[in-house]
Amino acid sequence: MKTFLAALTLSALGLAGTAEAQDGPFKNEIKARQGIMAYRALQLGVLGGMAKGEVAYDAAAAQKAADNLMATVTLDASMLWPKGSDNSANPASTALAAMWEEGSGIGDKAKAMMDAATALQAAAGSDLDTMKTALGPVGEACGGCHKAFRVSN
Ligand code: HEC
Repeated sequence: MKTFLAALTLSALGLAGTAEAQDGPFKNEIKARQGIMAYRALQLGVLGGMAKGEVAYDAAAAQKAADNLMATVTLDASMLWPKGSDNSANPASTALAAMWEEGSGIGDKAKAMMDAATALQAAAGSDLDTMKTALGPVGEACGGCHKAFRVSN
């Protein structure tokens, strides 16, 4: 039984190794960070829908979306961005290598996101206009970083 389990583990590792080789380096990190980004987009979509009047403003739902967005910003995701995990190393990623260069300004972009998300979290549950005003800078922070550090498509 022990031998069987050991063999099973080895073959599982073997399979994982093959997948890694086929899917390129840092596959899991890239997938995880794209998932976080997709989750951000989902929260922004909730607030954007209210801002555009497609959905009625709901203070509790707006607050929840802003809280969720904030959670993605305060999360320590540093392990998901190893140097060498850019688009040139693995086409599954749309991140540009420039992001990792000395003096790239990525810290400023991340701070802009943090500031905008913090302001939105404070504003989202107040009323529609206050939420809308705070939503703009968040969209700009997303776009500002993408423009600088993502493959344009
Ligand atoms: C500090 C930089 C930065 C900020 C701020 C940022 N992003 Fe991103 N985002 C990236 C990078 C880099 C990628 C590419 C990741 C990859 O493919 O490896 C990305 C990818 C994405 C993707 C595509 C995910 C996929 O499946 O390929 C979405 C959607 C996204 N971001 C949404 C957002 C939203 C919404 C915000 C703002 C609330 C935001 N991002 C803020 C850097 C940022």
